[in-house]
Amino acid sequence: MGQITVLCLLIFSLAYGNSLKTERHETRKFPDGFRFGAATASYQVEGAWNVDEGDTIGIVLSAFWYEPESEKDAQAAEDVMQFEWGQYANPIFSETGDWPAVMKNNIASKSAAQGFYRSRLPEFTPDEVAMIKGSSDFFGLNHYTTKLVYRNESVLGYYASPSYYDDANAITYQPADWIDSYPGTKWLKVVPWGFHKLLNKIREEYGNPPVYITENGCSTNPGIMDDARVSYYMSYLAAMLDAIEEGCDVQLYTAWSLMDNFEWYFGYDDRFGLYEVDYSVDERTRTPRKSAYFYKDLLRTRSLDPHHEPDMSVPMEIDIGH
Ligand SMILES: *[C@@H]1O[C@H](CO)[C@@H](O)[C@H](O)[C@H]1NC(C)=O
Repeated sequence: MGQITVLCLLIFSLAYGNSLKTERHETRKFPDGFRFGAATASYQVEGAWNVDEGDTIGIVLSAFWYEPESEKDAQAAEDVMQFEWGQYANPIFSETGDWPAVMKNNIASKSAAQGFYRSRLPEFTPDEVAMIKGSSDFFGLNHYTTKLVYRNESVLGYYASPSYYDDANAITYQPADWIDSYPGTKWLKVVPWGFHKLLNKIREEYGNPPVYITENGCSTNPGIMDDARVSYYMSYLAAMLDAIEEGCDVQLYTAWSLMDNFEWYFGYDDRFGLYEVDYSVDERTRTPRKSAYFYKDLLRTRSLDPHHEPDMSVPMEIDIGH
């Protein structure tokens, strides 16, 4: 039984991988007016973002893609997404506004069964629903990776109750054979087809809002030759171009991160930078990695060449006009 399950997982991941992998080898241009950036934490680069009057203002949501483990898990995957990021996106970007229906229904019925007088999810008034709807000029998206989802009897008693996860009522994981962004990553599997699906879902579900990719990138071990990061960017940018060709209104892309940074509870171990930071010296010396050269060339040519090898022998400098 165990072996059959593992075999099924392998087949699923291979099937999904193959059907969606971008196999194109030509150089692809980014659309006119498309904007790029590289961000890092605001306390590290003060003033990187300035908002002037008349600028657009919007919300940034952090979203994984959740793929059903099998066909019977489609609703489970959908529910997990509605709980994770639909709870913010639905009130703002959907035509109806308000919480996602599955949140209202699940939390109300669980609350009743748990002996609460009313749902643990507070209700919006009609005025609040109207006020929140359309209140963001763009859909800011932080995206990194994808997980699989299933729902069967194993979910009963799997989570503490009441809890957020118990309300969503599904189990998520990443198959061991998916590619790690670096050996030892706790969470960051390289799954570009999930990014592609996520962008299409945002287009279909919310009337194709302007999407700003405000964070995307991967962590690696220390070192200047970060081929894994270059290949992550190549595959995720190709997935984004696929989505744009299919009509998604993605207008901006921001690489995370400009330089290595303090990465929440992974501290300084997870290295996200286009630039390496040497934490062992007071100067915190920054050195461009291969990915910095790759990204610079991408910005200069405004195109994605899957066979491009950046020339790292030239000193990194700022080109005026790019
Ligand atoms: C539920 O599905 C998971 C993943 O496919 C499997 O490992 C587990 O054995 C299943 N649980 C039951 C009770 O069937």
